Amino acid sequence: MKNILVTGGLGFIGSETVIALLEKGYQPIIVDDLYNAKLAVLDRIETITHVRPKFYEVDVTDQAKTEKIFQENQIDAVIHFAGYKAVGESVYKPIEYYRNNLDSALVIVDLMRKYGVKNLIFSSSATVYGVPERVPLVETDPVSEATNPYGETKVMIERILKDVYKADPTLNIALLRYFNPIGAHPSGLLGEDPNGIPNNLLPYVSQVAIGKLKCLKVFGNDYPTPDGTGVRDFIHVVDLAEGHVATLKKLEQNPGLVIYNLGTGKGTTVLELVHAFEEANHVKIPYVIAPRREGDVAVNYANCDKAYRELGWKARFTIADACRDAYHFQKMNPNGIQ
Ligand code: WQD
Repeated sequence: MKNILVTGGLGFIGSETVIALLEKGYQPIIVDDLYNAKLAVLDRIETITHVRPKFYEVDVTDQAKTEKIFQENQIDAVIHFAGYKAVGESVYKPIEYYRNNLDSALVIVDLMRKYGVKNLIFSSSATVYGVPERVPLVETDPVSEATNPYGETKVMIERILKDVYKADPTLNIALLRYFNPIGAHPSGLLGEDPNGIPNNLLPYVSQVAIGKLKCLKVFGNDYPTPDGTGVRDFIHVVDLAEGHVATLKKLEQNPGLVIYNLGTGKGTTVLELVHAFEEANHVKIPYVIAPRREGDVAVNYANCDKAYRELGWKARFTIADACRDAYHFQKMNPNGIQ
């Protein structure tokens, strides 16, 4: 297995995965429509790895344009990241989210069938578990109604892929359920680079740390948790990327359809993360306690034993590592990647 088509390959997780693939001798081919990524990321991948992967600026909901990529390349596997991913935005734009995320997944599996590509990794999310009945979450826990259209598209695409696998059991499909990706590439050249005000916690904290934002709002401190603030499984994005490479190895053993949680197996509260960031970077993060955010769950973290048992993979980096890398990236890119 050599040539890996990476859709959304210039995004936060996609670009880190491209680097991990190159480091392990794979040949990634990137397709990205630049809706939520910048072409400059390709230059930075080249700076870091001294390789400039083949890049197609294509919207993968466009079947004709995407087909050209399958015609021009001998693709051995697809890692499908491309999709809209802003939880809050999805509530106001359900049509765009269902259209974009479902169409792009259907285009990919349709073209895989046509061109005999047998291996797929799908970027799923912990949101498919909905409001967890118990934690830590295991892969056999029920997939239920997500709390927003973004999460619902992940639930639906998982269902589509299970049916596609039933129709063709010679396929090898991995559903990777990410928890909360954080951090940045240690070089500071790549990292989480949201448009506008960050929705996610760590990019918001990083922007407060460089003075771009004034003060962090902690959404609720009356949850049933050690300090009352939300608990999440924050995983370093480089660990997450390496989890994809470990999964590719697994697909070479023809496992059929497999599902893995990619997290650290540990829960961290919002305030614990804030304090870890302050300690790791010797900064002060001013915050106020604000009302709970609509759609938030109290506690959400993973049991990752299955990934360790079957992939030989587990997260290596600590929360402090991720806080240091995120701050380093933010300082080097105060106005995002240009
Ligand atoms: C984490 C915690 C907030 C911002 C979402 C998606 C998930 C994935 C990651 C796409 C919560 C608190 C946050 C802030 C805060 N997205 N918080 N103040 O909601 O767990 O997960 O992003 O792939 O699919 O569901 O991540 O970082 O927004 O929130 O207090 O300014 O931080 O309440 O407890 P979330 P998050």
